[in-house]
Amino acid sequence: MDAVAGQPMRIITIANQKGGVGKTTTAINLSTALAAIDKRALVIDLDPQGNASTGLGIDKDDRSLSTYDVLKETASITEAAMPTAVPNLSIIPSTMDLLGLEMEISGVAGRAYRLRDALHFHQVEGAQFDFVLIDCPPSLNLLTINAMAAADSILVPLQCEFFALEGLSQLLQTVEQVRDSLNPTLDLHGIVLTMYDGRNNLAAQVVRDVRSFMGEHVYDTVIPRNVRVSEAPSFGKPAILYDMKCPGSQAYIQLASEIIQRERRLTAA
Ligand SMILES: Nc1ncnc2c1ncn2[C@@H]1O[C@H](COP(=O)(O)OP(=O)(O)OP(=O)(O)O)[C@@H](O)[C@H]1O
Ligand SMILES: [Mg+2]
Repeated sequence: MDAVAGQPMRIITIANQKGGVGKTTTAINLSTALAAIDKRALVIDLDPQGNASTGLGIDKDDRSLSTYDVLKETASITEAAMPTAVPNLSIIPSTMDLLGLEMEISGVAGRAYRLRDALHFHQVEGAQFDFVLIDCPPSLNLLTINAMAAADSILVPLQCEFFALEGLSQLLQTVEQVRDSLNPTLDLHGIVLTMYDGRNNLAAQVVRDVRSFMGEHVYDTVIPRNVRVSEAPSFGKPAILYDMKCPGSQAYIQLASEIIQRERRLTAA
């Protein structure tokens, strides 16, 4: 597989400080789609809500090591990564302990680099993953900053609704600040429009507006609103496993191939 052949591990942070826009759904299904095409994928759940962990079927009682341990530097990426029911897909789950982390390390130098350092160490050890997807909380707090400092690029889910662009400039400004201070090579990987409802005229207008504002940063693939996608987490399964044929699953599979193509362009550049 690719990492064995010497390809570097690619780290993509999924961020938007707006709540409920599809970050976790994208982390779960995109990682599953990448795993299905033989990429070894890792989801890092950086949200104390732990929705990515639950959605990938990791019981609360089984989260003995978590992102909290990694950020406290008491566990390595290799130690904390757990297999999921999806072949090729692992997760470092989160727990509510993460809520206290910001306070616990508030005065500590290099606190924004905890995740970057852990991933760097993992790479030096001999990376076990081709893709790492980091699921962020709906906030621009220290957890999200750690994720941005650690990443090669940022993927932003935007919900197809009237206020879609609201908050995007703040997010892009934060990316710019992180680039200036913590991570000069951070890229905007792309913007994925989520929960598109074709029956809604407004949604089509939102897609046009976002495309005209953000141009080629917007992926061609649009994720439709699809009830099967929203049902899947309650079964602890990615939608792609729950119902591979549903339009939402198919869109995430298509997004994965678009991402691979973009990756080729980015790494060749
Ligand atoms: N394509 C879709 N079709 C239908 N429902 C969806 C779709 N994508 C996400 N949802 C539902 O919308 C809700 C919010 O999605 P999700 O949890 O992925 O967003 P989030 O940005 O991670 O939220 P938070 O900011 O709280 O972490 C969830 O109930 C999810 O199941
Ligand atoms: Mg989430």
